Amino acid sequence: MTVTIVGSQLGDEGKGGIVDVYGDAADVVVRYQGGDNAGHTVVFEGDEYKLSLVPSGAVRGKVGVLGNGCVVNPRTLFDEIATLQEKGLDPNVRVAERAHVILPFHRILDGIEEDVKSESDQEVGTTGRGIGPTYEDKAGRRGVRVGDLLDPDVLRERLEYVVPQKRALIEDVYGLEIDDLDDPDALDVDALFEEFREIGERLEDRNMTVNASAFLTDAMSDGQNVMFEGAQGTIIDIDHGNYPYVTSSNPTAGGAATGTGLSPGVIGDGEIIGIVKAYLTRVGSGPLPTELGGVVGDSPGYDESTEGRNEELAEDIREEGGEYGTVTGRPRRVGWLDMPMLRHSARVNGFTGLAINHLDVLAGLDEVKVGHSYTLDTDEHSSSSNRNDSRSDDGEELFTMPPTTEEWAKCEANFRTFEGWDEVDWAAVAEDGYDAIPENARAYLDYIADEVDTPIYAVGVGPGREETVVVEDPF
Ligand code: GDP
Ligand code: IMO
Ligand code: MG
Repeated sequence: MTVTIVGSQLGDEGKGGIVDVYGDAADVVVRYQGGDNAGHTVVFEGDEYKLSLVPSGAVRGKVGVLGNGCVVNPRTLFDEIATLQEKGLDPNVRVAERAHVILPFHRILDGIEEDVKSESDQEVGTTGRGIGPTYEDKAGRRGVRVGDLLDPDVLRERLEYVVPQKRALIEDVYGLEIDDLDDPDALDVDALFEEFREIGERLEDRNMTVNASAFLTDAMSDGQNVMFEGAQGTIIDIDHGNYPYVTSSNPTAGGAATGTGLSPGVIGDGEIIGIVKAYLTRVGSGPLPTELGGVVGDSPGYDESTEGRNEELAEDIREEGGEYGTVTGRPRRVGWLDMPMLRHSARVNGFTGLAINHLDVLAGLDEVKVGHSYTLDTDEHSSSSNRNDSRSDDGEELFTMPPTTEEWAKCEANFRTFEGWDEVDWAAVAEDGYDAIPENARAYLDYIADEVDTPIYAVGVGPGREETVVVEDPF
């Protein structure tokens, strides 16, 4: 059977940890989208493993697959495998021949485009890993696929087509000199050919490339359990998230089918688990109706003059939850749980179960709030005579996210307040089970499960494998 792990919010919900918790029964762990923009953490016996590209099942010695929906930077893949080997693991990673390759110029273009956008405050706050530019080339039918690295003639042909276009883009559109870039070789066909042909040989020597669809179908025919490890989250999905403040792939459950070559029926026959952080964090720009405090540069319209939005509380949660970017160390934006967001997420993904993480982080607060619904704070749309019916009226109470980011930005959260719960011995709670969770915290969890009509499968009460209350094992 299959179990699909999906981020229900804005990423960093603790997906890696849940993959690890349920990973014992899995034989293969598969990433189906994204690339090394992800940062997934597994904590086991005091050791912390940070994974960007290698599926988190590596910590338990499971076979990892990077599906065709992924974008793969081979440099970071090999570096990460080496780092994990130094930690005593032996990652067995297969890469789909249909997956697209992040080439060095994709990172450069990611940086240039963010710089240009920042001049008019439109930057997304990407991870700078070249994710967007690589998916652009995939959709533009000028990308280089992993399979292309195995055939020197095809690789050269692809590079000779795409590289001059990128040079022209950088020089003629952005007005930059290639020779002034940190790495001019990133736009040199011969240098790229040499490096990536050698990478192709390495992938071949290590028998790392596969037809993911056939590989996974065979595994399932052999009775193996397959786990899909979504990266990012539903609200930064390119279709279902708050465009344009999104990543360039589909973290939502449907992506597990298109991103691997297994049918939607296979994915739908399995379990789809929504990973929920008990509050919200966001890296980068875009609206956040339940935001507490703000991060200058990321929170729209927030600067020193707009202070007075519960900064202290935001700081407490940020410190307690260690909410700083894994790569950049920049503070993550923090907010209360947002139910319209979760209702949208549950509908889009068809969750069969929820794993609610970080319950321990909220312990010790007098009260815990939840954005239960929104009130749309504008009369702009209602005054329009030929208004589309999907648009909401001023003052209307909304229970799900509106489809446009502009409308979402005009939503004010209507809060419900829950009584707080004390800090307890969470490891003991994890051992004793759901009923050992403090009563007020259970009221909070039960409310979430009721609102999205989905049972709770697990509750995270700390970062470690043993700090999870397992209610249901999906396998
Ligand atoms: P992912 O990208 O969804 O895999 O999540 P990240 O690894 O980026 O961020 C989650 C962070 O919270 C990591 O440092 C985890 O070790 C940690 N974490 C996960 N679950 C819990 C939990 O229930 N409680 C606490 N305190 N930390 C958690
Ligand atoms: P995991 O898998 C949180 C965000 C970036 C930016 C936007 C686009 O660890 O949950 P990109 O580099 O993908 O083009 O950036 O998406 N973002 C994430 N935020 N967790 C992630 O991954 C993210 N991956 C991308 O901050 O706002
Ligand atoms: Mg992360």
